[in-house]
Parts: sequence; C-alpha cells; structure tokens
Amino acid sequence: MDIFRDIDLRDRTTFGISARAACWVDYHSEDELRSLFGPDGADLPRPFFPIGGGSNLVPTGDFPGTLLHSCIRGGEVLEDDGDAALVEAGAGEPWDEFVLWACRKGLWGVENLSLIPGDVGAAAVQNIGAYGSEAGDAIVSVRCLDVKTLSPRTFTGAECAYGYRESFFKGEGKGRYIVLSVTFHLSRENGPTLGYKHLKDTLISKYGDLESLTPCDVRETVIAIRRTKLPDPAEIGSAGSYFRNPCVGEDRYEAIAAMGLGDVPHFPAEGGLVKIPAAWLIEKCGFKGARRGNVGVYEKQPLVIINATGEATPGEVLALEREICEAVKARFGVTLIPEAEHLPGVQPTLNQSK
Ligand code: EPU
Repeated sequence: MDIFRDIDLRDRTTFGISARAACWVDYHSEDELRSLFGPDGADLPRPFFPIGGGSNLVPTGDFPGTLLHSCIRGGEVLEDDGDAALVEAGAGEPWDEFVLWACRKGLWGVENLSLIPGDVGAAAVQNIGAYGSEAGDAIVSVRCLDVKTLSPRTFTGAECAYGYRESFFKGEGKGRYIVLSVTFHLSRENGPTLGYKHLKDTLISKYGDLESLTPCDVRETVIAIRRTKLPDPAEIGSAGSYFRNPCVGEDRYEAIAAMGLGDVPHFPAEGGLVKIPAAWLIEKCGFKGARRGNVGVYEKQPLVIINATGEATPGEVLALEREICEAVKARFGVTLIPEAEHLPGVQPTLNQSK
C-alpha cells in the first residue's frame, strides 16, 4: 500500500478545490484494507474516510484524517450463457472503463451511465443515475469489508436498498462497510432503456430504426448529450450535479405552477410526491451562469457548481451553496439537498468565507 501525508486534494477530486488532507492511503487488496484497521494503521490520523474517484466530493476545509482510496482493479466474468452475464468488478475500477468494456461485449445494462466520472465502488454506494438508468438496476450484489468485524460481507441488490441517489451504504451502513467489489447482471437481450425522452428522441433522429441499436450506439449518443450539458472535469472543475432534484408534495407543486413562470417541468416520484428539476428552480432564481469570485453556476446546467477559475476555495463553494439554497427556499418554499458529498474539514486560519 502507498501512504501519503499532508497532501493537496486539488488534483485528487474533480472539483479541483485546494484543501489539504492529513493522510491518503492507496490500498490494493482486501488484506491491505483490513490491515489498516489493525496495528498497521494505528498511527494513521482519524477519522478514516473512504474515497472513490473524488468526483462527487466537496472538500469543506482541511481534512484532519485519512482518506482510504481503493486501487482494487480488475474484473471477472462469473457466468456468461450467451444471453446474459454476471460480471464482478473491483471497487477501484474506473466506472467508465467498466461501461466501455460492457458495451464492447454487447452487454446492455450500464450504457446510459456512460462518461460518469468516478469508480465502480462509489457508483454502488451513490447509486449513480442518468438518462433513465441507475447503477442499482444492474447490481446483483456488493461485496464489502465490515470494518467492525473485519470480515467480508456480501449484500444482495435488495439489501442495498437502492433509491434515487440513495443506498444502504449512504444511510444505515455508512461508516461500517467499504466496498470491495460489485457484481452486475448484464444482458445481450434487453435492448436499450429509452425512458428518458431526450435520449430516445436523439437516438431516433440519429439512427431512425431503434431495433438494431447496439450498446455502443447508445453509449456514443449519451456521451454526445453529456458533452453538450455538463462541464468536462478535465477543463472545468465540478462535482457534477451539486444538488438532488427535490421531491415535493402536490400542494407545493400546484403553488409553484400557479406562479406564472410557464410550464413547471415535473415528474411523478415515490410516495405520491412530485419531482421538480433543481436546475429549473435555480435558473428561475437567476443563478444560471452566475459568478461569485472563483466559483459559479454552470451556464448550460445550473445544477452544477463550477470552479470557474481553478482557484475556488471551500469557503466560496459553501457560501454559494448556501446562497442558492436560501434563494430557492425563499422563492419556492423548497429545500434543496446537496447530492455531492461534503468531506468534513476544518477551515484554515485564513478565513475564506465571504
Ligand atoms: N433545466 C432547466 N434549465 C437548464 C437545464 C435544465 O430548467 O439550464 C430543467 C429542464 O426542465 C430539464 C430538467 O431541468 O428538462 C432536467 O435537466 P437534465 O435532463 O439536464 O437533468 P437533471 O435532472 O438536471 C439529472 C442528474 C444528472 C444526469 C441527468 C440526466 C440529478 C441530481 N442529476 O440532472 O446527473 O446526468 O439527470 O439524466 O439527478 C450527476 O449526478 O452528477 C449528474 C450529472
């Protein structure tokens, strides 16, 4: 394993925010990870915090503990009967490399999730989703290390309790289980998942006949759509969608629809609730393309807070988050919840908040 002390997180998260971490460990196997919870890890600063590709993480200051980074790579086809396959991928495998591999094999199931940054393990924790698919739809089991008993434990898909940007690992299991590998059920028979209108319309205009589509065709189309809407992490730092899309009661939706702001985009959600795109609420509060010092709201997708100059500080990001939440609450009575995870941190002595 590789241990790094007092590191800058700027190049280790897609946001590119400058903040320090007391320690970072790259581990390459289950045994190495386990050993960190015994004498080998005794002198490592606490708390321990598992990190994936750093693509959904917002450092809120200097992190005093140890970031545990999985370098468990690789994959294995456990079964393949020609129609469907069970594939196990290591938690540290880059998500999009796994998607590319599956598409090239002609396997359906994860193609709508193309080009999402991050690793396989984090995808299973966050239940990443896009264009009408979620990782949880294809996950059959998740193998973890239980850091309390130091034994491995495998969770079935049902035990993972997947919901919109939700899982057992983000909820009840948080802090106790670290993902080692994820097993997916992928199929050659299923065909494309076309529930997301813009994707379906784009495929129809590009290919006409949807019967002969391949997973690679869908992947290329998803990649093209993402490139028009979302910043390329290599060019503009961000954590992707900064907020979840909120679900509100019917009454609240009716009140917003009666405000005279035109058609309010909305989708049915669980429990009779109505999901309203956070991007629409944020845009209507005037934030689209807004700048506050080094940070801003992406002009093509206001759900994304960007590191506009590359010099953003944790205090600036948190101040903009607060400003957006307060404005949306005041105007629409809707509480926005960040979907990007806050890495607990201590603000440096220099006061960065505005
Ligand atoms: N909209 C606006 N103004 C805009 C952009 C969007 O009002 O400038 C409204 C429109 O009504 C649009 C709606 O927002 O129809 C939805 O926009 P979009 O399809 O871009 O998706 P989203 O709901 O904003 C979610 C995910 C994205 C994912 C896309 C595509 C969340 C938090 N985000 O965004 O995920 O790529 O759908 O499926 O659910 C991520 O998690 O990092 C991420 C990028």
